[in-house]
Amino acid sequence: QQLVKTKSPSAAKAISPNLFGIFFEDINYAADGGLYAELIQNRSFEYSASDKRDWNSLTAWQFTKEGFSYGTISVETSSPVHSNNPHYVVLNIEETGRDGVGLNNTGFDGIVIKAGEQYNFSLFAKQLTANAIPVTVQLRSKKGNLTNEATINTDSKDWKKYTATLTATQSDDSAMLVIVAKATGKIALDMLSLFPQKTFKDRSNGLRADLAQTIADLQPKFMRFPGGCLVHGDGLGNMYQWKNTIGPLEQRIEQRNIWSYHQSVGLGYFEYFQFCEDIGAKPLPVVAAGVSCQNSGGTWRIGGTGQKGLSEAEMKVYIQDVLDLIEWANGASTTTWGAKRAAAGHPEPFHLQYIGIGNEDKITPVFKERFKMIYEVVHAKHPEITIIGTTGPFHSGEDYDLGWNFANEVKVDMVDEHYYEKPEWFINNLKRYDNYARAASKVYVGEYAAHDVKRRNTLRSALAEALYMTSLERNGDVVLFASYAPLLGRKGHTQWNPNLIYFTGTQICPTINYYAQKLFTNNEGDLYYPNVITANVADTAKTFAASCVKDSKTGDVILKIVNRDSINLSAKINLSGLGALNTNAVVTLLSGDPDAENSCESTQNITPKTSNITVNKSFTYQAPPSSLTVIRIHTK
Ligand code: AHR
Repeated sequence: QQLVKTKSPSAAKAISPNLFGIFFEDINYAADGGLYAELIQNRSFEYSASDKRDWNSLTAWQFTKEGFSYGTISVETSSPVHSNNPHYVVLNIEETGRDGVGLNNTGFDGIVIKAGEQYNFSLFAKQLTANAIPVTVQLRSKKGNLTNEATINTDSKDWKKYTATLTATQSDDSAMLVIVAKATGKIALDMLSLFPQKTFKDRSNGLRADLAQTIADLQPKFMRFPGGCLVHGDGLGNMYQWKNTIGPLEQRIEQRNIWSYHQSVGLGYFEYFQFCEDIGAKPLPVVAAGVSCQNSGGTWRIGGTGQKGLSEAEMKVYIQDVLDLIEWANGASTTTWGAKRAAAGHPEPFHLQYIGIGNEDKITPVFKERFKMIYEVVHAKHPEITIIGTTGPFHSGEDYDLGWNFANEVKVDMVDEHYYEKPEWFINNLKRYDNYARAASKVYVGEYAAHDVKRRNTLRSALAEALYMTSLERNGDVVLFASYAPLLGRKGHTQWNPNLIYFTGTQICPTINYYAQKLFTNNEGDLYYPNVITANVADTAKTFAASCVKDSKTGDVILKIVNRDSINLSAKINLSGLGALNTNAVVTLLSGDPDAENSCESTQNITPKTSNITVNKSFTYQAPPSSLTVIRIHTK
């Protein structure tokens, strides 16, 4: 390869090597019915009207007694598998008839199965009458059988877990699970579960492979979890409690989802940390600051108590929970909480480095007092952990200043800023961080998205974000993390738009914004070079922005050029000072009609296109109209 000789590097600035990551919140069916690969909806009969007005223990289930069979079904709570999971069903089979008495489950908009693939079924059962009651399980469509029929010979008067494997003989997008009791008597059933055997990295209790892979393809540097508003819930009783989400599934404590559905917490803290490890992302858990949603006490909900923050006694327990989280993640397997991690199959620590406290909380005395209590203890006991505070729900004005005043007072390591704004806002705020104090708290742009008209995921919105992301790279010495939000949205079940990745039971539909993010996340650097790319465009036009970073690990120099204009843009590139460069470079281009969007009906409208170009120490690149270009140049 021909090499371009250049001068030695100068004026480079070290920037965050972990700038771009992901924000995961269980909103829009992101967990149950989404990333979590469980195919049965309401497997543990814990749905209730507090999740959604017309939901109950039997939502997504149908009782069947066809073919001259007789019997009844009841939902009971007197003797559950575990007190944390109180509801179960009892089938009272009086006459088995031709088809038996049983239950059907249609999963999330129908169960999707693929011919030839295997599915792991499990349930807990308890015989309530003297005789054994065999049950059969199968996947069916309205037209007939889709898998083999497995027979489970229940043989215990105590709760016992049984498993069976079903092999799909046909593909179907709307199968249902059919479980039928084949003898008279009474039997109790709970935790009826069905997973594809193929999950992401073949994990048991794992994640949906295609969706997880789409996330992994981003190569995010960190992953925030579990939100968002889900962190604090909509009342003190609805906070996300990490301890309720680990351990055996039947012992986890499910709860209402603030976005008006249900959290099985099957995708809990263990699954989250394991996923981070599987995709090479640093875990960034966020815990509530001991206050409810914007310190409201959840008063808008029936049953909202109005209590804004945890009491002093409750705070003691709560702070210990936060310390225990750190021990669970990082402690030796001989420690109390490290042992629980080890028991789940991960004796090695997870290497937690960051923790967020609070999400968009109003900076009130109630919040400040509780934040400080948590911050001081965690900081004293774990100086190795970077603590991320919040500037509150606002990103400008007096309330935002309150957030910064408090951050400065506490000297918190980093603060979380959120903004969902029109594309124009991003374009007009490209200099937002240029003058931020370098010695003050660092910034995590924890939630952002450009909201175009009708909240569509247009190329226009993606380019506004891309433009802005070049400014985050330029300010990567003060902005250490940034994550688009929200990440996932199941079509037909969204409470929020736009999202980065839409999906159905069968399809993954990445937005144009996803591809813009991917171009940044896949092309990060740890050194920023100013003034490498220039264009003859007035600063006020705000149609052009660019960045040049170098990734010290690979030695690659990466140029990003955004052209929002409707005509070509000549970008002048001067690579003097960047060392010896390979003349062959890879160009990835995202461009098209600014009003275009991808959808599940048309996933490929705008996707990145890759080609090769020859570069020189000094060259001109013609950026097409409405485009984001990434040019990757090897130095080795
Ligand atoms: O991302 C959706 C919501 O927006 C988050 O839950 C909340 O933090 C923000 O207001």
